[in-house]
Amino acid sequence: MEQTISITSHTERKVTDTRALPFGKVPTEHMFIAEYKDGKWQNASVTPFHDLSLSPIALCLHYGQTVFEGMKAFRMNDGNINVFRMDKHYDRFNLSLQRMCMPAVPKDLFVNAIHQLVAIDADWVPTDEDGSLYIRPFMIATEARIGVKVADEYLFMVVCSPAFLYYSQPLRVKVETTYVRAAEGGTGMAKCGGNYGGAFYPAGLAREEGFDQVLWTDSKTHEYIEESGTMNAMFFIDDTLITPSLSGSILDGVTRNSLLSIARDKGVRVEERPIKYTELLAAFQAGKRVEAFGAGTAAVVAPIATISIHGTDHACYTGKDAMMYKLRSWLYDIRIGAAPDTHHWNYIIR
Ligand code: COI
Repeated sequence: MEQTISITSHTERKVTDTRALPFGKVPTEHMFIAEYKDGKWQNASVTPFHDLSLSPIALCLHYGQTVFEGMKAFRMNDGNINVFRMDKHYDRFNLSLQRMCMPAVPKDLFVNAIHQLVAIDADWVPTDEDGSLYIRPFMIATEARIGVKVADEYLFMVVCSPAFLYYSQPLRVKVETTYVRAAEGGTGMAKCGGNYGGAFYPAGLAREEGFDQVLWTDSKTHEYIEESGTMNAMFFIDDTLITPSLSGSILDGVTRNSLLSIARDKGVRVEERPIKYTELLAAFQAGKRVEAFGAGTAAVVAPIATISIHGTDHACYTGKDAMMYKLRSWLYDIRIGAAPDTHHWNYIIR
């Protein structure tokens, strides 16, 4: 049965200048919240943004049953708002929930929650080219109990925040061969909080060495590239767009998936396959032009300037005619309605 969403709105609507603030620092005025109790979703509402009251023994605080999504809404050329790839984000959210033993969210609840929230906070969707509204659906286990168990009670929430450029300049990364982001059979394919918390320490060590991020390698051999920081890793070498295949420890990135489809549409050769960092090294040593970039919802396309392998920095190509910039611009055109949405990726709010 379709959930009714109650709506309580602020009377005064004021959009502050958020451009100068760090990513995600300023939430919009409203949020969505629904409770899962007695085996069903209830009390769904869009309300003014507010703090939560949570038991200190809420299970999410102890055993990590938390899952989130990262989505974006764009102001289109015709003034409408486009929530990009609602379906794919919904599917991935539920896959993550399943992996973390958390209850599925019905599609109509997910879609209506985001629709109502973005519509009420429409003034917060930036109008300038590098701006968007970042949408963060998430779920936490709220049942109060210290005993280790799968929770019986949850909150599903959605918050938003205006977003601009995630990285202001091309990144310096190092191939990480000590720590791993995820292992096969683990939770790497799920968007659960622990994957991100566990990455802070190695990312911090890399920053102390002067790098912006790490290029993760696989847990078994440390030879195969997995992801870059919190993004999928992509390369353009020998006129071919290459990205590691989804191994189970790699997140099925929506931006990754979109860029691969667009590249194929445009006739660019695409390879999804295991890629060893030594293959990159060989390309650098052969003097080839290597483009490297991270692909993610928040960062979209984040150019990589250098890759450090065994302590030596190798320069990647970041010239204006780079393929990654073409891909970014093709993607952008679809999102704002400047190019046809042939894959039906746009969810329009008028
Ligand atoms: C995203 O790109 O949406 C992410 O989830 C990465 C980060 C903001 C956590």
